[in-house]
Amino acid sequence: MYVLPNFRGQGIARALLQSAIDWCRLQGCSAVAVTVARKGEVRYGLSQFYARFGFRQTDRISLVLRFDGAVMNRAQLAIASSQ
Ligand SMILES: CC(C)(COP(=O)(O)OP(=O)(O)OC[C@H]1O[C@@H](n2cnc3c(N)ncnc32)[C@H](O)[C@@H]1OP(=O)(O)O)[C@@H](O)C(=O)NCCC(=O)NCCS
Repeated sequence: MYVLPNFRGQGIARALLQSAIDWCRLQGCSAVAVTVARKGEVRYGLSQFYARFGFRQTDRISLVLRFDGAVMNRAQLAIASSQ
């Protein structure tokens, strides 16, 4: 998720994320997972943002095979739908 700088602090990310979580819960999902880029963690403390919604860091290591050569290095956060 990315909110343009000029529009931050107005509750846009909260509305988007809460809608997505609510939708997943309605679909019967058991959990919602997000990935956070290391850069996003260093620059914005994104895991703290997601923690506000109940996301907690897991001990899973996310491995991705990319065919386009891009490098990914992400920590995975998950929320239990029962929260
Ligand atoms: C993090 C981000 C999504 C927040 O968007 P936003 O629309 O400004 O957030 P909101 O206004 O909806 O804030 C919702 C709540 O989260 C809090 N919050 C916002 N940014 C936060 C952060 N970086 N860390 C912790 N809490 C944060 C707000 O204070 C607010 O709390 P409140 O509801 O108790 O008042 C936005 O700063 C962003 O897009 N940053 C760049 C992210 C990025 O690089 N994404 C690429 C990923 S690959």
